[in-house]
Amino acid sequence: MILQPNTSLSDLAADAQAQLKHHYGKDATFVAAAPGRVNLIGEHIDYCDGFVLPLAIERYIVIAAVPNGTSQVRARSGDADEAVIDLSEKMAINDLKWSNYLRGVIDGFQKRGHVIPGFDAIVVSSVPTGGGLSSSAALECAMATLLEAIVDTTLDTKEKALLAQKAEHEFANVPCGIMDQFASAFGKKDHLVLIDCQSAEPELVPFSNPDLEIIVANTCVSHDLSDGGYAARRQDTEDGLAAIGKESWRACTMDDVLAAKDKMNERVFRRSRHVVSEIARTVQAAEDFKKDEYADIGRLMKESHDSLRDDFEVSCPELDLMVKIAEDLGLEGGVLGARMTGGGFGGSTVTLCRKDQALSIATALHERYLAETGITPQIFATRPARGAHIL
Ligand code: GLA
Repeated sequence: MILQPNTSLSDLAADAQAQLKHHYGKDATFVAAAPGRVNLIGEHIDYCDGFVLPLAIERYIVIAAVPNGTSQVRARSGDADEAVIDLSEKMAINDLKWSNYLRGVIDGFQKRGHVIPGFDAIVVSSVPTGGGLSSSAALECAMATLLEAIVDTTLDTKEKALLAQKAEHEFANVPCGIMDQFASAFGKKDHLVLIDCQSAEPELVPFSNPDLEIIVANTCVSHDLSDGGYAARRQDTEDGLAAIGKESWRACTMDDVLAAKDKMNERVFRRSRHVVSEIARTVQAAEDFKKDEYADIGRLMKESHDSLRDDFEVSCPELDLMVKIAEDLGLEGGVLGARMTGGGFGGSTVTLCRKDQALSIATALHERYLAETGITPQIFATRPARGAHIL
């Protein structure tokens, strides 16, 4: 199928519960879910005090769990090795990579003073891994939501998202901003999550226009660069801000960037130009979404993509191709705008389009991308979905 269906939450939960029964012999007492995200605009500026405009997607990580009367968490996810986490020991990074997201969140709860009882758990997911759709943030937020239920407490949503982000920093070694965990935690059906990353305050922006659709196209490539590439970009933006000499990117204008050009190397200058221009584009796009007006969205998304490709250098040929195919279809083909989304170096693009043309757009994306790269992409449509919750 060209437009892949989104597995319903109840089917994911039933799968997790059945696996729990199969592997651990008991019925679940808690089932938690948290979505991945796609970002419409505002890329690589969440760690620059910028604005970002993501939404939670109808793709989830679901965890079913049952207490096991021990001081261990035992968890399974697909074909990966079972994670066995000793709750009486200090949490530390483990060779079993996927378990580190769980360890990081457990660490956050233990540091808040919670005593976590042992439990068995099954993790199932409909968020593509490596697709730039924040499967890791979804796992962290699902785990945090599960632990809230297990220790019978409710964290303020912002505190929960920040705890999940800390897990990513300390246990996955990715110095990410707040966008992914905030989108996964605060997501709301039919709403975009406009995040002011300076105040760390989200604002829900209605997105209920029935004529529009959001298409996510996973290029199914993930380039090795990603490891050091993210941290290096972040460092460049810090160097840029230091050269400008202001406290926050939010206080910077393009004139400030130009005035400080001689104090930066050429690369840092381009990174800085991206930050300031992307913040302005995101502010304008957010206004347009609030007014349900889309005349400028195509240009803003295009400028965002071009800036990420040329100035920030986080795109790749496959992402550029996927965006180009959408752009070639144009308004006549039902495309309002398209760009890469997420951290980059592979992963997915986001296309805002007319709902009645979504299938023909997905077909064009699928066929041309496959013909030109030999890679079968993964394409699905989504509405803004509900954030992390207990089922
Ligand atoms: C990754 C990070 C986010 C954000 C994006 C780029 O998804 O986790 O914090 O920086 O990249 O916008």
